[in-house]
Amino acid sequence: MDEQRYSRRDFMQMAGVGGLVFASGLPGCATYGQSRPDFNFIQLSDIHWGYDNPKVNPDSKGTLRKAIATVNNLEQPPDFIVFTGDLTQTTDDPKVRRQRLREFRDMAAELKAPKVLFFAGEHDASLDRGEAYQEIIGGPLYYTFDHKGVHFIVLDNISDPAPILGAKQIEWLKTDLARQQPDAPIVVLTHRPLFSLYPQWDWATRDGMAAIDLLMPYKNVAVFYGHIHHEHHHMTGHIAHHAAQSLMFPLSPVGTAPQKTQLPWDAAQPYKGLGYRTVQATAAGTPQRMQELPVKA
Ligand SMILES: [Fe+2]
Repeated sequence: MDEQRYSRRDFMQMAGVGGLVFASGLPGCATYGQSRPDFNFIQLSDIHWGYDNPKVNPDSKGTLRKAIATVNNLEQPPDFIVFTGDLTQTTDDPKVRRQRLREFRDMAAELKAPKVLFFAGEHDASLDRGEAYQEIIGGPLYYTFDHKGVHFIVLDNISDPAPILGAKQIEWLKTDLARQQPDAPIVVLTHRPLFSLYPQWDWATRDGMAAIDLLMPYKNVAVFYGHIHHEHHHMTGHIAHHAAQSLMFPLSPVGTAPQKTQLPWDAAQPYKGLGYRTVQATAAGTPQRMQELPVKA
């Protein structure tokens, strides 16, 4: 597997060549390649409901609500919204876990969108293999759905604390992909990075490359994930991987701190490092265009 790391500028250039247009934070980059988007969706990630540290986020109970209010008033409403894991902050107490999941579910119900999708992060599901998550949020831990010609695959790399996808899920993925055409537009949604971004900080999936290898024959694949609490873009061959910001606390990027660090609140720049993204997609495959949106005070 040809896995390389690229600078943001390199990524943008490559992404353009590979059929992706990356518009995050780029003034003047409002064009959309040669085709118009068929739909857009929103990725919200790492909500960590129940987290409580005012030095890191003094508005821990209000940040998600602010994002929901903004999303509900977007000029261009999304076709669907997806939460990419860590809906709640981890707890050893199964009752508290359920309470947090219920509170999160009730807030997410305020979103005005035709469809809101969920999957778990390790904070929600690794201590009980997803039992509370499935009880309160419902649905399987990995699944697929199709939307306007794009095939979406949700992968679970969190309920097994190893952390792995596991042989059963990889076989399931193989069977699902066998039904797709080589040029089918495929979007993978998962929590941890599938590639080894930084295993020392748990920023990897031990058998993630098995999934990437299965995806490699397909020309139009992008992966959206969370877990690392900051925007990050990476290519494995022609497959683009995009990490989203958190809605609770930003984490230090690799190489900027000796330890994985929750970045402290900056009163001069409240909500800095927190946010979410819109993704525009076409049924013809790529390009997909992303825009990172901040939390508004
Ligand atoms: Fe998280």
